[in-house]
Amino acid sequence: MKARAVAAACCLAAVSVTAAATAQQPYTPTVGQPGKDVVWVPTPPELVQTMLDLARVTKDDYVIDLGSGDGRTIIAAARRGARGLGVEFNPEMVALSRRLAEAAHLSDRATFVQGDMFEADISKATVMAIYLLPANLEKLLPRFQALAPGTRIVSNTFGFEEWDPDARAAVEGGACSNWCEALLWIVPASAAGVWSLGGPDTLTLTQLHQVLYGSLRIGDRDTPLTNARMRGDHVTFSAGDRVYTGRLAGDTMTGTVTGGAGTAAWTATRR
Ligand SMILES: C[S@@+](CC[C@H](N)C(=O)[O-])C[C@H]1O[C@@H](n2cnc3c(N)ncnc32)[C@H](O)[C@@H]1O
Repeated sequence: MKARAVAAACCLAAVSVTAAATAQQPYTPTVGQPGKDVVWVPTPPELVQTMLDLARVTKDDYVIDLGSGDGRTIIAAARRGARGLGVEFNPEMVALSRRLAEAAHLSDRATFVQGDMFEADISKATVMAIYLLPANLEKLLPRFQALAPGTRIVSNTFGFEEWDPDARAAVEGGACSNWCEALLWIVPASAAGVWSLGGPDTLTLTQLHQVLYGSLRIGDRDTPLTNARMRGDHVTFSAGDRVYTGRLAGDTMTGTVTGGAGTAAWTATRR
């Protein structure tokens, strides 16, 4: 009995020595290691900065990275004063991200959760900063489109099949050899419809993502629109020699029109 107890104690001691040794080994991820829906390949640090620059991340932002890897993008955003959330499926990567945030004294602003990116609540993001495959992006597209107008989506290299970026930026200075381009989309407000400009005058708009098509009817004259687009809740279009700019809130657009007789205010109400 006594001999068995001694053997068990030795065995437990051996297990705890092994556990202690394992605990001391820092977890080191390997580039290309499998992930649930996409492998881990880290965004180069220079491109992280280019992405945050392109999205104009400030201290007022709440940045979410879906598939946050070692947390580098969220930690970099936190260094700019933003708050950020990384959602990562691999629990060891989550623990690593938390350790790195802690080491940078940024745990209060850079938080990480273990979870599936397709189930994460992203509704409060002002910026989505991501590095995912096109198939992942297409699956997430309806959720990105449902974000508040003006939310910026910035991606390492990959984009959407039918939604062109609003802007692109490449890492400058040759510091990057692979995956060197950042793409930016700004979630557009919904502008489609027939808008009344007062009296019989109307603006008719159809919309594909940030691009608008349509015409302006003043009196009995229809003028097709050119250069018509949304950038968040900002609207711009030209009709003949007049350039309209404005802001959309709900079913009202207000702004200024230049050209012709100078500059004037305009207002439109969705019918
Ligand atoms: C290409 S890496 C990008 C890492 C990081 N965003 C960056 O730019 O350095 C993709 C990450 O997504 C994670 N991932 C894969 N499928 C996921 C899922 N369904 N939910 C959350 N994370 C996932 C992987 O473990 C990996 O860390």
